[in-house]
Amino acid sequence: MQRHLQKYRIRKLWPLETETFRRHLLRLDPETRQFRFGTPVNDNFLNAYAETAFRIGTVVYGAFIGPDMYASAELRSLHAVGDDMAEAAFVVETAHRHHGLGSVLMDRIITAAQNRAIHQLHMICARDNQPMQKLGEKFGAQFRINHGEALGEIETDPPTVLSILGEAMHDTSDFVTAVFDWSPIGAAPRPEPRRIRHHRG
Ligand SMILES: CC(C)(COP(=O)(O)OP(=O)(O)OC[C@H]1O[C@@H](n2cnc3c(N)ncnc32)[C@H](O)[C@@H]1OP(=O)(O)O)[C@@H](O)C(=O)NCCC(=O)NCCS
Repeated sequence: MQRHLQKYRIRKLWPLETETFRRHLLRLDPETRQFRFGTPVNDNFLNAYAETAFRIGTVVYGAFIGPDMYASAELRSLHAVGDDMAEAAFVVETAHRHHGLGSVLMDRIITAAQNRAIHQLHMICARDNQPMQKLGEKFGAQFRINHGEALGEIETDPPTVLSILGEAMHDTSDFVTAVFDWSPIGAAPRPEPRRIRHHRG
């Protein structure tokens, strides 16, 4: 498993990378979309959802090969910013599963929650979603079944100097990596330029 993991870089998604997140979400097959969002979702939904990645109270991590992202993990405040509860959600593209990506992303999300003084991490998935429940249980989650859903909770530790330093150090090195992923000369990704139409007098 470690051998497979070496080809991925696990890092935070930066605000210049909405398109990267969008491309990852749009590649998800219908079954995976249903597992991730709890209901069937179409491309329009995912296009709009990608825009929410950098809302206040949201942190997104991804597994990258070069500039492309093949798995994501999101930490989102449940109610108001400053609340001590948040939701965690994960999706690994089918061809990239069972390589341990879910586990390394969970590890990063738990540290991110800890560093934001989030005390309780919630996960919601379908009651028959064994992979997600096993992943959560590996990190101490306890799931209870409520109607068709399994609701999991992880209690996180308070932040420490070491946990904050760990995230800060990752951020610094991850950002440098991201800059070099964006292009061989380190230029940030830009949206396609708009075509300007010139009307002749
Ligand atoms: C759940 C999911 C994120 C796991 O990702 P992954 O990268 O395959 O996870 P890992 O390789 O780190 O495996 C983590 C653990 O999950 C369990 N697991 C993974 N796949 C499994 C499967 N098909 N059946 C049963 N258990 C499974 C294993 O216990 C594994 O631990 P291990 O280290 O003992 O092998 C992935 O299956 C996925 O994206 N599913 C679709 C989206 C989804 O269901 N999201 C949840 C709602 S938020």
